[in-house]
Amino acid sequence: MARFAGRVERAGYGLVLSPMFEDVGVFERVGEGTDVVRKEMYDFEDKGGRHLALRPEGTASVVRAYVQHRPRPPFKAWYVAPNFRYERPQAGRFRQHHQVGVEALGTDDADLDVEVVALAWSVCRDLGLTRVDLLLNSLGDDACRPAYLDLLRSYLAERVDLLCDEHSSRALDNPLRVLDCKRPACREATADAPQMLEHLCEPCRAHFDRVLAGLRALAVPVRLEPRLVRGLDYYTRTTFELAASALDSAQNAVGGGGRYDKLAEALGGPPTTGIGFGMGIERLLLACDAEGVFPVPEGAVEVYIVDTTDGAAAILVTAELREAGIGADRAFDRRSMKAQFKQADRSGARLAVVVGEREAAAATVTLRDMRSGDQEVVPRADLVDHVRKRLS
Ligand code: HAM
Repeated sequence: MARFAGRVERAGYGLVLSPMFEDVGVFERVGEGTDVVRKEMYDFEDKGGRHLALRPEGTASVVRAYVQHRPRPPFKAWYVAPNFRYERPQAGRFRQHHQVGVEALGTDDADLDVEVVALAWSVCRDLGLTRVDLLLNSLGDDACRPAYLDLLRSYLAERVDLLCDEHSSRALDNPLRVLDCKRPACREATADAPQMLEHLCEPCRAHFDRVLAGLRALAVPVRLEPRLVRGLDYYTRTTFELAASALDSAQNAVGGGGRYDKLAEALGGPPTTGIGFGMGIERLLLACDAEGVFPVPEGAVEVYIVDTTDGAAAILVTAELREAGIGADRAFDRRSMKAQFKQADRSGARLAVVVGEREAAAATVTLRDMRSGDQEVVPRADLVDHVRKRLS
């Protein structure tokens, strides 16, 4: 989390906290034809008769907040938040899951797509994941997608009987979803289906080419996946997913995102383009586990205070070090020196500051290097300077 926050904040994204539930209409805009809206929404009526829903995903809330508060574009936000989807719980698919993500609104510059996709990719790299594929596609826009959908519908109409049970009845309502279907019947029946990437209009093609060129320049390895559709309706142009091959293929998406250039308008705002991604924290952890790269968090505690007087010195020393920007922790309950050193060890601190009767009487403290065991007695008044020198 801290590493994610650091990375995206260095790229100019600020933290946004959105409510856990909102008017159901906000989330219905993510797609009336999607499972997330049709089947999985936790919606309810409150005491005032309002129809509300628990947040199923983060994008709609951020865009709603943008439309409501109109910050100056480009508006770049990040979040970490629980999301709720009513589905059959199984490995990697939960009714409550958590996402970290970013949303960037107010420019359709393809270089922003490059930034966002590369950020998502670097999250996996930061965790030490190596078996993750970055799948990329373009879903076109209002200029080119309708004609493509007609083409796809005619193609599917001739093969309806060959599709899986779910899609043989719904194929023509949402033909893109059929391409995304993992069942063998749909896969075989659509093996040579027309692809959006081959029917992009000129501006969408140019946009996509620039995204590809930018990602190549950054050495972000991309796999074109013309079948990548994603489970939400708001996407336009760039769409992407991060698939962990160490996970079972049904639940192997550790993250996904894309452009949603029409969503702000659908939520009653001015035309405002946007792009973002969300990554499932639980899935990322499962992928780390499967790859055996579980990240050991870097401890924020640099100094541990061992106070064998009455603990009063520890109050002052921890406060002084923390004020100076140094991570410091201490033992409680007036435990023995041995027990406190054990805790110091477990905290991962590099230095221990020891305050015993002798030090207290002489207005000194003892600094002990927790790795080498080296000790040095220094004046209490110069503590911060000495600690800084040893930590640098
Ligand atoms: P999504 O693909 O629905 O996209 O979810 C993003 C990620 O959340 C998935 O790749 C997966 O890792 C995780 N996830 C989703 N559902 C579950 C679940 N039931 N249990 C565990 N993990 C889950 C979105 O939500 C979009 N808002 C992403 C986005 C942001 N697009 C543009 N901006």
